[in-house]
Amino acid sequence: MTLRVTVVGTGYVGLVTGVCLAHSGHSVTCVDIDRAKVDMLTSGTSTIYEPGIEELLAGGMASGNLTFATPENGWRDLIGDITVVAVGTPMAPNGAADLSAVRTVVAALAEAADHPFTLVMKSTVPMGTGAAIRQRYLDDAAVRIGYVSNPEFLREGKALEDWFKTDRIVLGAAEEADLALMRELYADIDAPLVETDVASAETIKYASNAFLSTKISFINEIANLCDCIGADIDAVSRGIGMDKRIGSQFLNAGIGYGGSCFPKDTRALDFIATLNGYQFTLLKSVIEVNNRQRLLPVVHVMRALPDLHERSIAILGLAFKPDTDDVRESPALDIVPLLAEQGATIRIYDPVAAELTVSGATRVADVWRALEGASAAVVVTEWHEFTELDWARVREVMTGPGIIYDGRNCLDAAAVRSAGLTYMAVGRGGEHRAAENA
Ligand code: UGA
Repeated sequence: MTLRVTVVGTGYVGLVTGVCLAHSGHSVTCVDIDRAKVDMLTSGTSTIYEPGIEELLAGGMASGNLTFATPENGWRDLIGDITVVAVGTPMAPNGAADLSAVRTVVAALAEAADHPFTLVMKSTVPMGTGAAIRQRYLDDAAVRIGYVSNPEFLREGKALEDWFKTDRIVLGAAEEADLALMRELYADIDAPLVETDVASAETIKYASNAFLSTKISFINEIANLCDCIGADIDAVSRGIGMDKRIGSQFLNAGIGYGGSCFPKDTRALDFIATLNGYQFTLLKSVIEVNNRQRLLPVVHVMRALPDLHERSIAILGLAFKPDTDDVRESPALDIVPLLAEQGATIRIYDPVAAELTVSGATRVADVWRALEGASAAVVVTEWHEFTELDWARVREVMTGPGIIYDGRNCLDAAAVRSAGLTYMAVGRGGEHRAAENA
Protein backbone atom coordinates (compact mmCIF):
# COMPACT_ATOMS: atom_id res chain seq x y z
CA MET A 1 0.00 0.00 0.00
CA THR A 2 1.34 3.43 -0.95
CA LEU A 3 1.19 5.86 1.94
CA ARG A 4 1.34 9.62 1.76
CA VAL A 5 4.29 10.48 3.95
CA THR A 6 5.76 13.80 5.02
CA VAL A 7 9.22 13.99 6.54
CA VAL A 8 9.99 17.20 8.42
CA GLY A 9 13.69 18.09 8.49
CA THR A 10 16.09 17.23 5.68
CA GLY A 11 19.16 16.81 7.85
CA TYR A 12 20.96 13.52 7.99
CA VAL A 13 18.18 11.39 9.43
CA GLY A 14 15.33 13.15 7.58
CA LEU A 15 16.89 12.94 4.15
CA VAL A 16 17.82 9.28 4.52
CA THR A 17 14.30 8.55 5.76
CA GLY A 18 12.73 10.44 2.86
CA VAL A 19 14.74 8.84 0.05
CA CYS A 20 14.41 5.34 1.53
CA LEU A 21 10.62 5.56 2.01
CA ALA A 22 10.28 6.89 -1.56
CA HIS A 23 12.39 3.95 -2.75
CA SER A 24 9.91 1.63 -0.97
CA GLY A 25 7.14 3.14 -3.11
CA HIS A 26 5.57 5.64 -0.75
CA SER A 27 4.69 9.14 -1.85
CA VAL A 28 7.07 11.30 0.15
CA THR A 29 7.36 15.05 0.68
CA CYS A 30 10.44 16.22 2.54
CA VAL A 31 9.95 19.57 4.23
CA ASP A 32 12.60 21.97 5.49
CA ILE A 33 12.54 25.61 6.55
CA ASP A 34 15.87 26.14 4.78
CA ARG A 35 14.95 27.28 1.25
CA ALA A 36 18.55 26.84 -0.02
CA LYS A 37 18.54 23.18 1.06
CA VAL A 38 15.16 22.56 -0.53
CA ASP A 39 16.34 24.15 -3.80
CA MET A 40 19.50 22.08 -3.83
CA LEU A 41 17.61 18.85 -3.19
CA THR A 42 15.01 19.74 -5.80
CA SER A 43 17.83 20.12 -8.31
CA GLY A 44 18.84 16.53 -7.51
CA THR A 45 21.93 17.25 -5.40
CA SER A 46 22.26 15.69 -1.96
CA THR A 47 22.92 18.06 0.93
CA ILE A 48 24.78 15.34 2.87
CA TYR A 49 27.67 13.04 2.03
CA GLU A 50 26.39 9.48 2.21
CA PRO A 51 27.39 6.63 -0.10
CA GLY A 52 24.47 5.70 -2.41
CA ILE A 53 22.18 8.59 -1.51
CA GLU A 54 22.48 10.45 -4.84
CA GLU A 55 21.17 7.39 -6.70
CA LEU A 56 18.15 7.01 -4.41
CA LEU A 57 17.50 10.73 -4.64
CA ALA A 58 17.54 10.61 -8.45
CA GLY A 59 15.37 7.47 -8.50
CA GLY A 60 12.81 8.94 -6.12
CA MET A 61 12.52 12.15 -8.08
CA ALA A 62 12.31 10.36 -11.45
CA SER A 63 9.49 8.13 -10.17
CA GLY A 64 7.60 11.15 -8.85
CA ASN A 65 7.60 9.60 -5.36
CA LEU A 66 9.87 12.22 -3.86
CA THR A 67 9.37 15.98 -3.66
CA PHE A 68 10.76 18.75 -1.49
CA ALA A 69 9.03 21.78 -0.03
CA THR A 70 9.31 24.57 2.50
CA PRO A 71 6.45 25.34 4.90
CA GLU A 72 6.34 29.00 3.77
CA ASN A 73 2.76 28.61 2.51
CA GLY A 74 1.61 26.94 5.71
CA TRP A 75 1.65 23.37 6.98
CA ARG A 76 -1.93 22.30 6.25
CA ASP A 77 -1.38 20.87 2.78
CA LEU A 78 1.96 19.36 3.72
CA ILE A 79 0.67 17.00 6.39
CA GLY A 80 0.72 13.38 5.21
CA ASP A 81 -1.14 10.34 6.58
CA ILE A 82 2.15 9.72 8.30
CA THR A 83 4.21 12.77 9.24
CA VAL A 84 7.69 12.01 10.45
CA VAL A 85 9.55 14.50 12.63
CA ALA A 86 13.29 14.31 11.98
CA VAL A 87 14.61 17.67 13.10
CA GLY A 88 17.74 18.11 15.18
CA THR A 89 17.93 17.76 18.96
CA PRO A 90 21.37 19.26 19.60
CA MET A 91 23.06 19.33 22.95
CA ALA A 92 22.13 22.31 25.12
CA PRO A 93 24.94 23.88 27.20
CA ASN A 94 23.77 21.92 30.29
CA GLY A 95 24.04 18.59 28.46
CA ALA A 96 20.29 18.15 27.93
CA ALA A 97 18.77 17.60 24.50
CA ASP A 98 17.52 20.89 23.05
CA LEU A 99 13.93 20.19 21.98
CA SER A 100 13.03 23.64 20.66
CA ALA A 101 12.94 22.59 16.99
CA VAL A 102 10.82 19.52 17.82
CA ARG A 103 8.34 21.62 19.80
CA THR A 104 8.06 24.26 17.08
CA VAL A 105 7.31 21.65 14.41
CA VAL A 106 4.83 19.64 16.51
CA ALA A 107 2.98 22.80 17.56
CA ALA A 108 2.71 23.94 13.93
CA LEU A 109 1.47 20.52 12.76
CA ALA A 110 -1.10 20.21 15.55
CA GLU A 111 -2.36 23.70 14.87
CA ALA A 112 -2.64 23.29 11.10
CA ALA A 113 -4.00 19.73 10.82
CA ASP A 114 -7.43 19.45 9.20
CA HIS A 115 -7.38 15.67 8.75
CA PRO A 116 -6.35 12.88 11.12
CA PHE A 117 -2.77 11.68 10.82
CA THR A 118 -0.07 9.77 12.67
CA LEU A 119 2.88 11.75 13.97
CA VAL A 120 6.08 9.69 13.99
CA MET A 121 8.97 10.86 16.15
CA LYS A 122 12.32 9.92 14.62
CA SER A 123 14.32 12.70 16.25
CA THR A 124 16.13 11.39 19.33
CA VAL A 125 14.09 12.77 22.20
CA PRO A 126 14.43 12.11 25.95
CA MET A 127 12.21 9.59 27.66
CA GLY A 128 8.92 11.20 28.56
CA THR A 129 8.89 13.54 25.56
CA GLY A 130 6.17 11.57 23.74
CA ALA A 131 3.87 11.75 26.75
CA ALA A 132 4.55 15.48 27.15
CA ILE A 133 3.89 16.16 23.46
CA ARG A 134 0.63 14.24 23.58
CA GLN A 135 -0.59 16.18 26.57
CA ARG A 136 0.60 19.60 25.45
CA TYR A 137 -0.10 19.58 21.71
CA LEU A 138 -2.02 16.55 20.47
CA ASP A 139 -4.85 15.90 22.92
CA ASP A 140 -6.51 19.25 22.18
CA ALA A 141 -6.00 19.25 18.40
CA ALA A 142 -9.08 19.58 16.17
CA VAL A 143 -8.45 16.15 14.62
CA ARG A 144 -7.09 12.85 15.89
CA ILE A 145 -3.29 12.81 15.84
CA GLY A 146 -1.74 9.44 16.67
CA TYR A 147 1.78 9.29 18.09
CA VAL A 148 4.54 6.76 17.43
CA SER A 149 8.09 6.76 18.74
CA ASN A 150 10.20 5.22 15.97
CA PRO A 151 13.89 5.75 16.74
CA GLU A 152 16.54 5.36 14.05
CA PHE A 153 19.71 3.26 14.22
CA LEU A 154 21.49 4.65 11.17
CA ARG A 155 25.26 4.85 11.10
CA GLU A 156 26.67 7.68 9.02
CA GLY A 157 28.36 6.21 5.97
CA LYS A 158 26.26 3.04 6.19
CA ALA A 159 22.85 4.62 6.53
CA LEU A 160 21.18 3.05 3.50
CA GLU A 161 22.36 -0.43 4.43
CA ASP A 162 21.22 0.16 8.01
CA TRP A 163 17.81 1.28 6.77
CA PHE A 164 17.04 -1.63 4.48
CA LYS A 165 18.88 -4.33 6.48
CA THR A 166 18.18 -3.14 9.97
CA ASP A 167 18.44 -5.54 12.93
CA ARG A 168 15.07 -4.35 14.21
CA ILE A 169 12.36 -1.73 13.84
CA VAL A 170 11.26 -0.18 17.13
CA LEU A 171 7.70 1.13 17.33
CA GLY A 172 6.37 2.69 20.50
CA ALA A 173 2.69 3.59 20.43
CA ALA A 174 -0.42 3.54 22.60
CA GLU A 175 -2.90 2.64 19.87
CA GLU A 176 -3.18 -0.29 17.49
CA ALA A 177 -4.32 1.93 14.59
CA ASP A 178 -0.99 3.74 14.58
CA LEU A 179 1.00 0.53 14.83
CA ALA A 180 -0.96 -0.94 11.91
CA LEU A 181 -0.06 2.05 9.76
CA MET A 182 3.61 1.73 10.70
CA ARG A 183 3.61 -1.95 9.70
CA GLU A 184 2.39 -0.80 6.27
CA LEU A 185 5.10 1.83 6.11
CA TYR A 186 7.83 -0.76 6.63
CA ALA A 187 6.11 -3.66 4.85
CA ASP A 188 9.02 -4.28 2.46
CA ILE A 189 11.70 -4.40 5.15
CA ASP A 190 12.49 -7.83 6.48
CA ALA A 191 13.25 -7.11 10.14
CA PRO A 192 11.74 -8.03 13.49
CA LEU A 193 9.39 -5.43 14.95
CA VAL A 194 9.72 -4.42 18.58
CA GLU A 195 6.28 -3.07 19.40
CA THR A 196 6.06 -1.42 22.76
CA ASP A 197 4.89 1.69 24.61
CA VAL A 198 6.25 5.14 23.76
CA ALA A 199 8.50 5.56 26.83
CA SER A 200 10.14 2.15 26.28
CA ALA A 201 10.83 2.92 22.61
CA GLU A 202 12.42 6.23 23.62
CA THR A 203 14.53 4.36 26.16
CA ILE A 204 15.66 1.75 23.62
CA LYS A 205 17.28 4.48 21.54
CA TYR A 206 19.26 6.01 24.39
CA ALA A 207 20.14 2.65 25.92
CA SER A 208 21.45 1.38 22.55
CA ASN A 209 23.79 4.33 22.06
CA ALA A 210 24.84 4.28 25.72
CA PHE A 211 25.62 0.57 25.55
CA LEU A 212 27.71 0.94 22.38
CA SER A 213 29.55 3.88 23.94
CA THR A 214 30.15 1.76 27.03
CA LYS A 215 31.64 -0.99 24.90
CA ILE A 216 34.05 1.51 23.33
CA SER A 217 35.10 3.09 26.63
CA PHE A 218 35.47 -0.37 28.15
CA ILE A 219 37.82 -1.61 25.44
CA ASN A 220 39.72 1.67 25.63
CA GLU A 221 40.29 1.15 29.35
CA ILE A 222 41.52 -2.37 28.67
CA ALA A 223 43.80 -0.96 25.93
CA ASN A 224 45.26 1.57 28.35
CA LEU A 225 45.92 -1.27 30.77
CA CYS A 226 47.55 -3.25 27.95
CA ASP A 227 49.95 -0.33 27.51
CA CYS A 228 50.82 -0.45 31.20
CA ILE A 229 51.54 -4.16 31.26
CA GLY A 230 52.78 -4.73 27.71
CA ALA A 231 49.81 -6.79 26.42
CA ASP A 232 48.36 -6.51 22.91
CA ILE A 233 44.83 -5.07 22.61
CA ASP A 234 44.31 -6.57 19.13
CA ALA A 235 44.66 -10.08 20.53
CA VAL A 236 42.60 -9.20 23.59
CA SER A 237 39.74 -7.74 21.51
CA ARG A 238 39.75 -10.75 19.22
CA GLY A 239 39.86 -13.14 22.16
CA ILE A 240 36.96 -11.61 24.03
CA GLY A 241 34.91 -10.78 20.93
CA MET A 242 34.72 -14.43 19.95
CA ASP A 243 32.46 -15.00 22.92
CA LYS A 244 29.06 -14.61 21.27
CA ARG A 245 27.63 -13.10 24.43
CA ILE A 246 30.12 -10.25 24.05
CA GLY A 247 30.30 -9.97 20.25
CA SER A 248 33.23 -8.73 18.19
CA GLN A 249 31.85 -5.36 17.07
CA PHE A 250 32.65 -2.05 18.76
CA LEU A 251 35.77 -3.46 20.34
CA ASN A 252 38.23 -1.32 18.34
CA ALA A 253 40.33 0.60 20.82
CA GLY A 254 41.53 4.08 19.97
CA ILE A 255 41.07 7.73 20.82
CA GLY A 256 37.37 7.30 21.50
CA TYR A 257 33.99 7.95 19.99
CA GLY A 258 32.86 11.21 18.39
CA GLY A 259 30.13 12.27 16.01
CA SER A 260 26.73 13.84 16.37
CA CYS A 261 25.20 10.97 18.34
CA PHE A 262 27.20 9.16 21.02
CA PRO A 263 28.63 12.23 22.81
CA LYS A 264 25.28 14.03 22.71
CA ASP A 265 23.11 11.04 23.63
CA THR A 266 25.29 9.83 26.50
CA ARG A 267 25.31 13.33 27.98
CA ALA A 268 21.54 13.65 27.51
CA LEU A 269 20.89 10.26 29.15
CA ASP A 270 23.05 11.23 32.09
CA PHE A 271 21.06 14.47 32.32
CA ILE A 272 17.71 12.65 32.19
CA ALA A 273 18.87 10.24 34.90
CA THR A 274 20.02 13.08 37.16
CA LEU A 275 16.78 14.97 36.59
CA ASN A 276 14.88 11.87 37.68
CA GLY A 277 16.91 11.57 40.86
CA TYR A 278 19.14 8.74 39.65
CA GLN A 279 22.95 8.83 39.48
CA PHE A 280 23.98 6.76 36.45
CA THR A 281 27.53 6.16 37.70
CA LEU A 282 28.57 3.77 34.93
CA LEU A 283 27.51 6.18 32.20
CA LYS A 284 29.37 9.07 33.84
CA SER A 285 32.54 6.97 33.73
CA VAL A 286 31.96 6.09 30.07
CA ILE A 287 31.81 9.80 29.25
CA GLU A 288 34.85 10.61 31.37
CA VAL A 289 36.94 7.84 29.82
CA ASN A 290 36.02 9.07 26.35
CA ASN A 291 36.93 12.67 27.18
CA ARG A 292 40.30 11.52 28.47
CA GLN A 293 40.99 9.08 25.65
CA ARG A 294 41.05 11.76 22.96
CA LEU A 295 43.85 13.55 24.80
CA LEU A 296 46.21 10.55 24.57
CA PRO A 297 47.93 11.66 21.33
CA VAL A 298 48.66 15.06 22.92
CA VAL A 299 50.07 13.46 26.08
CA HIS A 300 52.32 11.04 24.20
CA VAL A 301 53.51 13.41 21.49
CA MET A 302 54.38 16.00 24.16
CA ARG A 303 56.27 13.40 26.16
CA ALA A 304 58.21 12.25 23.14
CA LEU A 305 58.89 15.77 21.90
CA PRO A 306 59.19 17.94 25.02
CA ASP A 307 59.52 21.21 23.09
CA LEU A 308 57.02 21.59 20.28
CA HIS A 309 58.18 25.05 19.17
CA GLU A 310 59.41 24.94 15.59
CA ARG A 311 58.06 21.41 15.32
CA SER A 312 55.57 20.53 12.65
CA ILE A 313 52.79 18.00 13.33
CA ALA A 314 50.56 16.35 10.74
CA ILE A 315 46.95 15.59 11.65
CA LEU A 316 45.67 12.84 9.41
CA GLY A 317 41.89 12.92 9.43
CA LEU A 318 39.39 15.44 10.69
CA ALA A 319 36.11 13.52 10.26
CA PHE A 320 34.91 11.69 13.38
CA LYS A 321 35.11 8.41 11.44
CA PRO A 322 35.79 7.36 7.81
CA ASP A 323 33.22 7.55 5.00
CA THR A 324 31.68 10.72 6.30
CA ASP A 325 32.45 14.43 6.01
CA ASP A 326 31.05 14.99 9.51
CA VAL A 327 33.48 16.63 11.93
CA ARG A 328 31.07 17.08 14.83
CA GLU A 329 32.71 16.09 18.15
CA SER A 330 35.72 14.77 16.26
CA PRO A 331 38.71 14.16 18.56
CA ALA A 332 40.72 16.37 16.17
CA LEU A 333 38.82 19.39 17.49
CA ASP A 334 40.37 18.84 20.93
CA ILE A 335 43.77 17.59 19.81
CA VAL A 336 44.68 20.36 17.36
CA PRO A 337 44.25 23.43 19.63
CA LEU A 338 46.17 21.71 22.45
CA LEU A 339 49.15 20.94 20.22
CA ALA A 340 48.98 24.40 18.65
CA GLU A 341 49.07 25.98 22.12
CA GLN A 342 52.38 24.23 22.71
CA GLY A 343 53.81 26.12 19.76
CA ALA A 344 53.64 23.37 17.13
CA THR A 345 52.86 24.12 13.50
CA ILE A 346 49.88 21.97 12.56
CA ARG A 347 48.91 20.80 9.10
CA ILE A 348 45.65 18.89 8.73
CA TYR A 349 44.70 16.64 5.87
CA ASP A 350 41.35 14.91 5.39
CA PRO A 351 40.14 13.58 2.04
CA VAL A 352 36.47 14.45 2.56
CA ALA A 353 35.70 16.23 5.85
CA ALA A 354 33.75 19.45 5.78
CA GLU A 355 35.68 22.68 5.51
CA LEU A 356 36.51 23.73 9.01
CA THR A 357 38.80 26.34 10.45
CA VAL A 358 40.66 25.01 13.45
CA SER A 359 42.62 27.76 15.13
CA GLY A 360 46.35 27.24 14.98
CA ALA A 361 46.23 24.87 12.05
CA THR A 362 46.38 24.92 8.28
CA ARG A 363 44.28 22.61 6.16
CA VAL A 364 46.24 21.10 3.25
CA ALA A 365 44.91 19.33 0.16
CA ASP A 366 47.36 16.45 0.08
CA VAL A 367 48.61 13.94 2.66
CA TRP A 368 52.25 14.50 1.61
CA ARG A 369 51.93 18.24 2.19
CA ALA A 370 50.84 17.44 5.73
CA LEU A 371 53.69 14.99 6.36
CA GLU A 372 56.47 17.08 4.78
CA GLY A 373 58.92 18.08 7.52
CA ALA A 374 56.63 16.83 10.33
CA SER A 375 58.19 15.39 13.47
CA ALA A 376 54.95 13.59 14.35
CA ALA A 377 51.75 12.53 12.59
CA VAL A 378 48.53 11.71 14.43
CA VAL A 379 46.02 9.45 12.68
CA VAL A 380 42.65 10.69 13.92
CA THR A 381 40.45 9.00 11.29
CA GLU A 382 41.06 5.55 9.84
CA TRP A 383 40.67 6.58 6.19
CA HIS A 384 41.76 3.85 3.79
CA GLU A 385 44.26 6.27 2.24
CA PHE A 386 46.26 6.31 5.48
CA THR A 387 46.38 2.55 5.93
CA GLU A 388 47.84 2.28 2.41
CA LEU A 389 50.63 4.86 2.81
CA ASP A 390 54.11 4.14 1.45
CA TRP A 391 55.95 4.17 4.79
CA ALA A 392 59.43 4.35 3.28
CA ARG A 393 58.40 7.57 1.55
CA VAL A 394 56.79 8.81 4.77
CA ARG A 395 60.13 8.29 6.56
CA GLU A 396 61.90 10.25 3.85
CA VAL A 397 59.61 13.28 4.11
CA MET A 398 59.25 13.38 7.93
CA THR A 399 61.99 14.64 10.24
CA GLY A 400 63.38 13.69 13.66
CA PRO A 401 61.94 10.61 15.33
CA GLY A 402 59.15 10.44 12.75
CA ILE A 403 56.43 9.61 15.28
CA ILE A 404 53.31 7.99 13.89
CA TYR A 405 50.57 8.11 16.55
CA ASP A 406 47.96 5.64 15.33
CA GLY A 407 44.87 6.91 17.12
CA ARG A 408 42.69 4.25 15.53
CA ASN A 409 44.97 1.21 15.73
CA CYS A 410 44.43 0.89 11.99
CA LEU A 411 47.98 0.79 10.63
CA ASP A 412 50.29 -2.14 10.03
CA ALA A 413 52.58 -1.53 13.00
CA ALA A 414 55.38 -3.74 11.66
CA ALA A 415 55.41 -1.94 8.30
CA VAL A 416 55.57 1.47 9.99
CA ARG A 417 58.37 0.37 12.31
CA SER A 418 60.42 -1.34 9.65
CA ALA A 419 60.46 1.91 7.66
CA GLY A 420 62.38 3.41 10.60
CA LEU A 421 59.45 5.39 12.00
CA THR A 422 58.42 5.49 15.67
CA TYR A 423 55.05 3.79 16.02
CA MET A 424 52.66 4.57 18.87
CA ALA A 425 49.11 3.34 19.25
CA VAL A 426 46.47 2.61 21.90
CA GLY A 427 47.15 -0.65 23.71
CA ARG A 428 49.41 -2.22 21.14
CA GLY A 429 52.26 -2.93 23.56
CA GLY A 430 54.51 -0.75 25.68
CA GLU A 431 55.69 1.27 22.69
CA HIS A 432 54.82 4.63 24.28
CA ARG A 433 57.42 4.27 26.97
CA ALA A 434 60.04 2.96 24.55
CA ALA A 435 59.48 5.97 22.30
CA GLU A 436 59.68 8.59 24.99
CA ASN A 437 62.35 11.21 24.43
CA ALA A 438 63.25 9.72 21.07
C1 UGA B 1 25.72 5.82 15.90
C2 UGA B 1 25.09 4.43 16.03
O1 UGA B 1 26.01 3.42 15.58
C3 UGA B 1 23.80 4.34 15.24
O2 UGA B 1 23.19 3.06 15.46
C4 UGA B 1 22.85 5.44 15.71
O3 UGA B 1 21.63 5.44 15.01
C5 UGA B 1 23.52 6.78 15.50
O4 UGA B 1 24.74 6.81 16.25
C6 UGA B 1 22.55 7.82 15.99
O5 UGA B 1 22.26 7.87 17.19
O6 UGA B 1 21.92 8.50 15.15
P1 UGA B 1 27.33 6.99 14.11
O7 UGA B 1 27.43 8.14 15.06
O8 UGA B 1 27.14 7.26 12.67
O9 UGA B 1 26.13 6.01 14.55
O10 UGA B 1 28.71 6.24 14.24
P2 UGA B 1 29.31 4.83 14.65
O11 UGA B 1 29.72 4.11 13.43
O12 UGA B 1 28.44 4.10 15.60
O13 UGA B 1 30.63 5.33 15.39
C7 UGA B 1 30.56 6.22 16.49
C8 UGA B 1 31.93 6.54 17.01
O14 UGA B 1 32.47 5.43 17.71
C9 UGA B 1 32.98 6.90 15.95
O15 UGA B 1 33.71 8.02 16.40
C10 UGA B 1 33.87 5.67 15.87
O16 UGA B 1 35.18 6.00 15.49
C11 UGA B 1 33.81 5.19 17.31
N1 UGA B 1 34.08 3.75 17.46
C12 UGA B 1 33.23 2.83 16.94
C13 UGA B 1 35.20 3.34 18.16
O17 UGA B 1 35.99 4.15 18.66
N2 UGA B 1 35.44 1.99 18.31
C14 UGA B 1 34.60 1.05 17.79
O18 UGA B 1 34.88 -0.15 17.97
C15 UGA B 1 33.48 1.48 17.08
